[in-house]
Amino acid sequence: MTDLFDPFEAGGLRLQNRIALSPLTRTRADMAGKVGALQAEYYAQRASAGLLITEATAVTPGGRGGAYCPGLWDDDQIAGWKLVTDAVHAKGGLIFSQLWHAGRLSHSTLSNGAGAPVAPSAMKQPGQMFVETGFADYEEARALDIGELPGLVDSYRQAAVRAKAAGFDGVELHAAHSYLIDAFLRDMTNHRTDAYGGSIENRARLLIEVLTALVDVWGPERTAIRLAPIGHAYNAWDSKPEPLFTYVVEQLNALNIGWLDLVEGDTGISRDCEPSFDLQKIRRMFKGVTIANNLYDRDLALKARADNTADMVAFGRAFIGNPDLVERLRVDAPLIDAPRQSYYGGGARGYTDFPTLAEAG
Ligand SMILES: Cc1cc2nc3c(=O)[nH]c(=O)nc-3n(C[C@H](O)[C@H](O)[C@H](O)COP(=O)(O)O)c2cc1C
Repeated sequence: MTDLFDPFEAGGLRLQNRIALSPLTRTRADMAGKVGALQAEYYAQRASAGLLITEATAVTPGGRGGAYCPGLWDDDQIAGWKLVTDAVHAKGGLIFSQLWHAGRLSHSTLSNGAGAPVAPSAMKQPGQMFVETGFADYEEARALDIGELPGLVDSYRQAAVRAKAAGFDGVELHAAHSYLIDAFLRDMTNHRTDAYGGSIENRARLLIEVLTALVDVWGPERTAIRLAPIGHAYNAWDSKPEPLFTYVVEQLNALNIGWLDLVEGDTGISRDCEPSFDLQKIRRMFKGVTIANNLYDRDLALKARADNTADMVAFGRAFIGNPDLVERLRVDAPLIDAPRQSYYGGGARGYTDFPTLAEAG
C-alpha cells in the first residue's frame, strides 16, 4: 500500500495526490514575458498532479535566464497567467508560481535597457546562453550595490502580488541552480564584504528578506522555496554546504515556510550525495511539507513514501512527454520519453501534443 496516489491536505489545500510537477522552463512565452492559451492548455493537461509548480517566472526583465521565458514583473502579464490558473482549477488542480531572478545567468539583451546582468559579485559565467538572436556568450555581471537590494526585494513582493491577482494557489522562491538567491548564499559566487557577504548569516540575508516579503503577501503556508543544497548546476559551489543549508532551513522554520522543494543531488544528473552531508537531515529538520525531486522513477517515488523520506515527489522530465503521468504511474504504464529538442522553444509541437493513455488507445 502506498499513499502516493491518495489525496493529501497541506497549507489549507487539498491535493489530489502526492505527486508534483517540477518547475520546467519551456521557453514558449513571448519576448514581453507573456504566456497565454498555449501555456493554459499545457498546464491544464498536467492538472492531475497534486501540485503544479510553474516554469521559472522572472520578477524583473533582467531576471530572465533566457529568451521566451515568462515574467510577472508587469501588470500586463497577469491576464495570461489567469488563463493558466483558471484552466488548471477547472480541472481540479492546484498551481504555484515559481518566482525567479537569474542573476549573472541573464543577459543585457533581456534587461529592457537596464544593462548588464546583476549578481552578488562581479563575475562572468563561462559558456553561452540562449537570447532572442540565438546563442550568446554570458556577460560580465555587475555586483549589485547594497542600495539596490530593497528594490530587488520589492520586485519579488510585487511579483507575488501579481501572482495572487493571477489566481495562483501559492508561490515558490527559486533559490537553486546558482541563480541570484543561490549565488548570494554560496561563497564561490558571493565575495561581498558588506552585510550581504562573508558569514553564513550575511549570505542568507537576501533570501530571508525576499521570503519575508513573499510571506507578507501569501502567508507562510502558501510560500514554498526550492533549494538544491548539493547541486552544482551552473557551477554552484560552496565550501561548506552543510552548515550553510542547515542555517537556511532553521530560518525557513522560523518563518514557518510551508513547502520545501528539495532537489536531491545534482539536478538532472545524479542523485549522489556528498558523503559528509546527509540531505535527510534537512528533510527531518524542515517543519513543513518536503517535496523531493531529482531523477525519481515510480519505484523510487513509492519507496520515498514507504520510508517517509519525503511528503511529496516532484517529477520534471517525465511530465514533458506524459501529461497524465499520475495515471501512468498509478497503473504502471510505460512512459513516453520526450525528445530533448522539444524541451525548449517552439510552439505546440513537443509541448501540448503528447497523448494521454486513453488518447493513445
Ligand atoms: C527542460 C527543463 C527545464 C527546467 N526548468 C526549471 C525551472 O524553470 N526551474 C527549476 O527550478 N528547475 C528547472 N528544471 C529542473 C527540474 O525542475 C528538475 O529539477 C530536473 O529535471 C530533475 O528532475 P527529473 O529527473 O524528474 O527531471 C528544468 C529541467 C529541465 C529538463
